[in-house]
Amino acid sequence: MKLSISIQETGDKTRPTFIAFFNGEKIGFLECLITNPSMDIVQIDVAEKFRRLQVGSRLIRFACENNPQVHEIFIEVAENNEGAIKFYHSLGFTFIGERKHYYRNGKNAINMVLKI
Ligand SMILES: CC(C)(COP(=O)(O)OP(=O)(O)OC[C@H]1O[C@@H](n2cnc3c(N)ncnc32)[C@H](O)[C@@H]1OP(=O)(O)O)[C@@H](O)C(=O)NCCC(=O)NCCS
Repeated sequence: MKLSISIQETGDKTRPTFIAFFNGEKIGFLECLITNPSMDIVQIDVAEKFRRLQVGSRLIRFACENNPQVHEIFIEVAENNEGAIKFYHSLGFTFIGERKHYYRNGKNAINMVLKI
């Protein structure tokens, strides 16, 4: 199913947030840090009942289309966040390293990149 969503950008050009709306309801967001030609995903979150409907993918695609000067996207994700890791893999992100005990709970962070 393809949801009819709209995406709005807020914040400044180096620290934009992209917000996805469905029927006027905020259903997800993507917060980025842009340091051309790189972009870091600071946070991405889609409301639970709207997951697996391509909202997250569309938020990332929208951010890329609005920032054509970006050629690499970095992400740091908790090693036990399997759903998010599969999500990034599905978009073509590849593993580039890890940071041991990065999170307060002692879990490692995984670093991934997407070259575009
Ligand atoms: C990670 C997240 C943003 C993905 O958003 P989403 O809108 O559900 O993702 P999409 O629908 O665009 O997924 C695209 C593809 O990624 C993969 N994928 C996404 N979530 C997955 C999951 N939980 N398990 C397995 N594969 C998954 C699938 O291949 C999916 O395509 P498909 O549904 O046709 O099989 C969402 O699950 C989320 O908000 N999670 C909680 C917050 C979080 O962990 N954020 C990441 C912090 S680094």
